Amino acid sequence: MPITRDDALALDAADPLAPFRDAFGLPQGLIYLDGNSLGPPPKAAHARLADVASREWGFDLIASWNVNGWMDAPLRAGAKLARLVGAKPDEVAVADSTSVNLFKLAAGALSLRPGRRTILSTAGEFPTDLYVLEGLAGLSGAQLKTVAPDALLDAIDEDTAVVVLTHVHYRTSRRWDMAAVNAAAHAKGALVLWDLSHTAGALAAGLNASGADLAVGCGYKYLNGGPGAPAWLYVAERHQAQIRSPLSGWMGHAEPFAFEDAYRPAGDIRAQLCGTPAILGIAALEAALDLQVQADPAAVEAKGLQLSQLFIDLVSEHCRELTLATPRDPQARGLHVSLTHPDGYAIVQALIARGVVGDFRAPDVLRFGFSPLILSHAEVFDAAAILREVLATRAYDRPEFRQRAAVT
Ligand SMILES: Cc1ncc(COP(=O)(O)O)c(C=O)c1O
Repeated sequence: MPITRDDALALDAADPLAPFRDAFGLPQGLIYLDGNSLGPPPKAAHARLADVASREWGFDLIASWNVNGWMDAPLRAGAKLARLVGAKPDEVAVADSTSVNLFKLAAGALSLRPGRRTILSTAGEFPTDLYVLEGLAGLSGAQLKTVAPDALLDAIDEDTAVVVLTHVHYRTSRRWDMAAVNAAAHAKGALVLWDLSHTAGALAAGLNASGADLAVGCGYKYLNGGPGAPAWLYVAERHQAQIRSPLSGWMGHAEPFAFEDAYRPAGDIRAQLCGTPAILGIAALEAALDLQVQADPAAVEAKGLQLSQLFIDLVSEHCRELTLATPRDPQARGLHVSLTHPDGYAIVQALIARGVVGDFRAPDVLRFGFSPLILSHAEVFDAAAILREVLATRAYDRPEFRQRAAVT
């Protein structure tokens, strides 16, 4: 039986997460399928930013480090985020960018595995991950080895210090079995550092349950923390006393305000902090987290997979000229769906002109993200119908849709 718009409306009527939509400020009529790249603003984040800027910064000024809890912000926000990724509250901190955190924890992994020289990853990972690891290899004398995803588990050996992987791949949405990779690495004495940028706020990642060692992730995607939001990092409790950060800044010191000449690392997750926390950025992210923690991560994942399944089913039925680049098995994918077409860029532009926002990844990937807190099944139905119309009428075949912007 073909899926109808009424079917989609029935799913919306039974959706326990539907009320979350009103907590976000999104332009009327826009179908936003790019929350996997930049999440929309929670209304509470705007209010919180205004309060921090005018009252805390403007009135309380420097006293805010104490009276408004600025000093505790990285760990306070981290503890909230920990609930979304299946970690203990004292295992997560909000700080720096994903790229910087990846550098700190990959170097930290080397410090936990002295004598091992290989950092193992897969070809085609998100570029910053490979670039950062390449830089770390140059500095540390370790070697960066990349293999095809299907060859990864066999490539882990006694020289592997750390395996670095994005849990959900940015281009294909392929999802690793976290517990299986952790177990395979641990069997060889290696550690795993996960990039959960496309996971946190989307899938119910069980860091503790899967035996994970280390993880990092973005704050601005499904966590809706705002453009350039601070990122986060996770260090399993069992590693916290031994791991060494290469960026031994004063915020990671056991007593930052002792102003000692010599570095003495804190014995807990604070050792992964480096410099003064970005208070405005954390304030927006924390407001978004306060909203997100009200939703059960398992329900969020289930709805996201249902939305993306609906889209896959409709596109497979009506848009035969597109090729699905994402696993069909819901357990093997994240919450974005990738399709390929030689005119992918122009098709995405034609969709944006019709109020359906997805994005494009060179050379030919159309990417659509299904953020569970902001989208309805009816919107997904409508987006698929508009895509069908754009393809059927070749509405994308216009010079203005082929003009590439700097950021795609
Ligand atoms: C998997 C992954 N890692 C890292 C990043 C970006 O890291 P940063 O916030 O440091 O630019 C992205 C951005 O899209 C990403 O998709």
